[in-house]
Amino acid sequence: MTKSSRLPGFYALSVEARAARVAEWAGLDDADRQALGGGLAQDRADKMIENVVGLHELPLAVAPNFLINGRDYLVPMAIEEPSVVAAASYMARIVRDAGGFRATSTEPVMIGQIQVLGLSDLHEAGAALLGERERLLELATRTDPVVASLGGGARDIEVRLFDESPAGPMLVLHLLYDVRDIGANTVNTALEALAPVVEEITGGRAHLRILSNLADRRLAGASCTIPADLLAFDDFSGEQVAQGIVEAYALAAVDSYRAATHNKGIMNGIDAVALACGQDWRAIEAGAHAYAARSGHYTSLSTWTRGARGALYGTIELPMAAGIVGGATRAHPGARAALKIVGARTAQELAQVLAAVGLAQNMGALRALATEGIQRGHMALHARQVAIAAGASGEEVQAVSEQMVSERRVRPDRAAEVLAEIRRGSRVE
Ligand code: MEV
Repeated sequence: MTKSSRLPGFYALSVEARAARVAEWAGLDDADRQALGGGLAQDRADKMIENVVGLHELPLAVAPNFLINGRDYLVPMAIEEPSVVAAASYMARIVRDAGGFRATSTEPVMIGQIQVLGLSDLHEAGAALLGERERLLELATRTDPVVASLGGGARDIEVRLFDESPAGPMLVLHLLYDVRDIGANTVNTALEALAPVVEEITGGRAHLRILSNLADRRLAGASCTIPADLLAFDDFSGEQVAQGIVEAYALAAVDSYRAATHNKGIMNGIDAVALACGQDWRAIEAGAHAYAARSGHYTSLSTWTRGARGALYGTIELPMAAGIVGGATRAHPGARAALKIVGARTAQELAQVLAAVGLAQNMGALRALATEGIQRGHMALHARQVAIAAGASGEEVQAVSEQMVSERRVRPDRAAEVLAEIRRGSRVE
């Protein structure tokens, strides 16, 4: 039987009850379950990086409702910003009612670069490298027998020539390397092994040997088609919301100032999942923004248009260097537990989930911006925090925050007044 990620009332449970529900859903054992509450021990952290003085914590949440390629997912998200998880969950719920996200990902092929300097004839050196293609691929694949045994390894080489650079004429060898589910660092090992051979073949000097974060051979994409009537809420018709989202996207399509913010909203979701799952989110960030600028004009990573019968159609595509083996996914127990929750069986599947979350997050932001504005949703969460700070607990939190939001007066002094009124009222009863 397939499990549904639609968990009605999940948000209203206590933290413990939510964790128990998720653990049951994902089949977590006790150790994984405990890791959700901060699984990284200090001595383990001390072996991960240098000069450790403690641990840094963030809230870990789960976004339900995701249906991607017909499979249900609970999506772990680590983030400090309010509204992000709520928006992702809510948009995933709308999209699930419309049949869910469709997602794709290419083979996990990374690009590694070797910079070659000191060449008198770039074209001759390039031709020599291409002539030795098989030898170079074979050598690169041999550097990681584990990746090779999983069906990965070197796939191709490409040569790029720069007649002029601040360091003079320069040749760059690209190694296209399928890393399978393993972290991309294995590419660096292959590049270091290739460098002396590249020097021998070209007669030049191999300088930098490092992977490229513009991983444009390792793309993930997602799309969704939503009948306009599913988008109606409050006083906004589905038609207004769908058209509003398309018009909001239009600004990001043409204007880099808006595209930066639009893409930041996409990365709110992607980074939160990446962080929870122990991914190198800086690499994903770097790839996303470089890809957004690939035409020479920084633009939106997503598109929103109207399709048949006015349905809203959204797409996203971006590089996605995600791994499910090695790196923090091995060292960090919390990341391991998060990966179990998301349940992706391959790095490519994780990449698809990340792309779908990015699209959901973007839809949530555009929907809010195109209708009630972004502050209203923020206000509700902010109001809860103000209510708690004023001393509200249990059901008082909801009551105090709802009152402040309805009055549009979310302030500590008002929270204290409302709380006092409620307590007086309950004493009278
Ligand atoms: C805030 O973290 C993200 C947004 O600014 C994204 C957007 O404007 O699309 C709301």
